[in-house]
Amino acid sequence: MADLDDIQEVRKAGKLFYPEIKQQTPGFFLKGSGNYDWGMKNRLSQIFNPLTGNTLMLAFDHGYFQGPTTGLERVDLSVMPLEPYCDTLMLTRGILRSIVPGSTQRSIALRASSGPSILKEMSNEVLALDIQECIRLNASCLAVQVFIGGEFETQSVDNLSRMINLGNQYGIPVMAVTAVGKDMARDARYFRLASRICAELGAHIVKTYYIEDGFDTISSSCPVPIVIAGGKKIPELDALRMARNALDQGANGVDMGRNIFQSENPVAMIQAVRAVVHEAASAEAGYEIYLKKCGGRK
Ligand code: R5P
Repeated sequence: MADLDDIQEVRKAGKLFYPEIKQQTPGFFLKGSGNYDWGMKNRLSQIFNPLTGNTLMLAFDHGYFQGPTTGLERVDLSVMPLEPYCDTLMLTRGILRSIVPGSTQRSIALRASSGPSILKEMSNEVLALDIQECIRLNASCLAVQVFIGGEFETQSVDNLSRMINLGNQYGIPVMAVTAVGKDMARDARYFRLASRICAELGAHIVKTYYIEDGFDTISSSCPVPIVIAGGKKIPELDALRMARNALDQGANGVDMGRNIFQSENPVAMIQAVRAVVHEAASAEAGYEIYLKKCGGRK
């Protein structure tokens, strides 16, 4: 039986996480991904730009449990103008088939788990797609929600493991999305635990949240690439600072939704985020881009 002390705050022991020393990945540009087969590496390269090592995923899958939430009432009008500026569209198959042109050059991160709406216990998810459907839709990545510490934790871990088994058969990466229950602490200890469990289970990408204190220990103790969700809408400069800090502390990109599509000027905001993700722009430089692209209108 593992001792609970093992997941206690470990900074006290000094530099155990070595966030200043990058993990080596012989033969491939992406963290922890050097031993995969060709198809898996190629799909990961459609998500993460091999030149920068980073990705700008645009997340707009929220409707699978929230319906037409703010900013996503008309995906065709609000999100499609953002499509040229991202690397990857993260969405459900329903929106993919009904709204996104088959001619898109963006890679697809397909929401592969589903379950209760916001009206019920959200951790009670199941797998939503079979692997043939994922192949038919040319997915570059499959996203499965994992509720570590949640009521249906084991079920969500099983969802992840089964999708990884299927993805590995066909060379399709699986992104584990760490979901935090309403009453859980959003701290480094929790996100280290959740992210590492997902990676140990075989997730090829882990999506988690940025936190101010100790994010570098989350990214350094997770042996595969981490992308951060944007979370609730915050002021544009703060969102750009969050992205910059996460990248500086070991993340390989963002999977951002509300802080882009709920911005006062989403097209300007996504270009600012892009500069931060792919051009090493500071948050302030990104904000200048945002203001400029707004053309005086925020
Ligand atoms: C949440 O369950 C969805 O997977 C979203 O894709 C995720 O939360 C990222 O979106 P946001 O940046 O709005 O948090």
